[in-house]
Amino acid sequence: MKTRELRQKFLDFFEKKGHKIVPSSSLIPKDPSVLLTSAGMQQFKEYFLGEPSPYGKKVASSQKCFRTSDIEEVGDVSHLTFLEMLGNFSFGNYFKEEAIKLAYEFLFKKLKLPLKEARFTVFGGDKEVPLDEESILIWKKLGIPEEKIKKCGREDNFWGPTGVEGPCGPTTEIHFGGVEVWNIVFNEYYCDSKKKLKPLKQKGVDTGMGLERLAMVSQEKTSVFEIDLFEPIIKEIEKSSAKIYDKNSKDYRIIADHIRGAVFLISEGIFPSNVERGYVLRKILRRTIRSRRLLELQTNFLFSLAGKVIETYKDIYPELSSRQADILTVIQKEEEKFRRAIEQGIKEWKILSKILSKAGRGYITGKEAFSLYETHSISLESIEELAKESGIKIKDKEGFKKAFKKHQEVSRAGAEKKFGGLGKGATLKAVKLHTATHLLHQALREVLGDDVKQMGSDINPQRLRFDFSHHQKMTEAEIKKVEDSVNEKIKKDLAVKKEEMPYEKALKSKALAFFKEKYPEKVTVYSIGGFSKEICAGPHVKKTSELGRFKIIKEESSGAGVRRIRAILE
Ligand code: ALA
Repeated sequence: MKTRELRQKFLDFFEKKGHKIVPSSSLIPKDPSVLLTSAGMQQFKEYFLGEPSPYGKKVASSQKCFRTSDIEEVGDVSHLTFLEMLGNFSFGNYFKEEAIKLAYEFLFKKLKLPLKEARFTVFGGDKEVPLDEESILIWKKLGIPEEKIKKCGREDNFWGPTGVEGPCGPTTEIHFGGVEVWNIVFNEYYCDSKKKLKPLKQKGVDTGMGLERLAMVSQEKTSVFEIDLFEPIIKEIEKSSAKIYDKNSKDYRIIADHIRGAVFLISEGIFPSNVERGYVLRKILRRTIRSRRLLELQTNFLFSLAGKVIETYKDIYPELSSRQADILTVIQKEEEKFRRAIEQGIKEWKILSKILSKAGRGYITGKEAFSLYETHSISLESIEELAKESGIKIKDKEGFKKAFKKHQEVSRAGAEKKFGGLGKGATLKAVKLHTATHLLHQALREVLGDDVKQMGSDINPQRLRFDFSHHQKMTEAEIKKVEDSVNEKIKKDLAVKKEEMPYEKALKSKALAFFKEKYPEKVTVYSIGGFSKEICAGPHVKKTSELGRFKIIKEESSGAGVRRIRAILE
């Protein structure tokens, strides 16, 4: 049975059993202590704790999930970073007996999966939580022989909480061919931030079944990468690589999994960076690129493969079509960036290892590794890989980390100096360009939308340069609109007003801020007529008519998802 059909059958089955079908929530969870949505229950967390659910007490969903914990496992038969999780949930309604019966009915009656091949696990009990005898009994009543029911410990058969605290409980799982397919969690405890368990007021059920794993069993495949969803992707790689799947399955699988993950992450508005979600995206993209190189695929290959992923999923997840341009641009840019970094890094590495072998040294210091990072932005991870390949050790990783921290502090301070104000020696022309920058910023937000965020700015007496987040090239018409808007404000001769106020108040008044965490308690806010308002150290002109004519001379890319404008005042 095709994956699409399995997904629908699951939802239809539970709908008929009185469950409300709830759409997948975003991959970016509400819970700030969790980086990415990794389970279906996350959007329902509070309903397990007794808060009334607007959907009723029985719900089911197919949830987009991303599991960073499994990145290194990808390449085997069953692990994925991005996956769709089918789940049914009860918030103080049914408990063990009905949950197990429903799972049994769906898998063995509805889908007619081979019962003979299924194995079951239950929680075996420990000091805090007793053996789950009830589940054993229910399985036995359904005809499962005792030798197929294994008792396991906390590691395997206890789930949750997600984040620092929340509902959790013992589980029973259904396995096929050694792969866990369905996890049924009996939420009876609340785990607090100190890891202490307390009984929950109401008992609940949270289940999760990987759609891809279910398809693997239903389609009688030996790995998730052979199911219908991945088949076109693997075929596409096979068509373009001289290396066959059978002998290189790991790299094939990394590409197939990670490109799909990357497409979904970008579709949620996540862009490559060196922190948090952006870092996860960068990491999987870079691993994909590495595997692409190993399979000797062309550079533009990933870009076209991402198109295939969008094609496969777009009817189910319409956000993929609407962000198609962003997705493709980000992947292409990251690849270019990585290629440049790697090429430079390898050159440098070759020189370094020559010097090292001459000196009879089998290691590099953390500081030397950092200098590779700083000059060529090649990550510690990649340096470690290169080192391993040439039998060289990194002697003191702490040294790398220290140098990295210092580097971050210095660049932050540098950035503040740059954007915080123009300094005492500012020429009148620079002051005018500074005021024009504020007008430009607001005009961009008006024309392109409030997503536009300042990413950087630089002024010299000749021109202004402004970097901002935006994912496609501006059209001629957009450029003209922005230019006209700025010139119109100049013509209107708006007054530039300077006020001092507490930072909090400035934010409340909707003044644009740049370095959020780094402002002092009292800040200066500059407003231009009713048009623009920014926290800024100045200086600025008094009236916009002083500026003259504003002209955009160039609009170009400045990294993934960032555009750069150069403009002058005539
Ligand atoms: N929340 C459980 C899991 O993710 C079902 O495995």
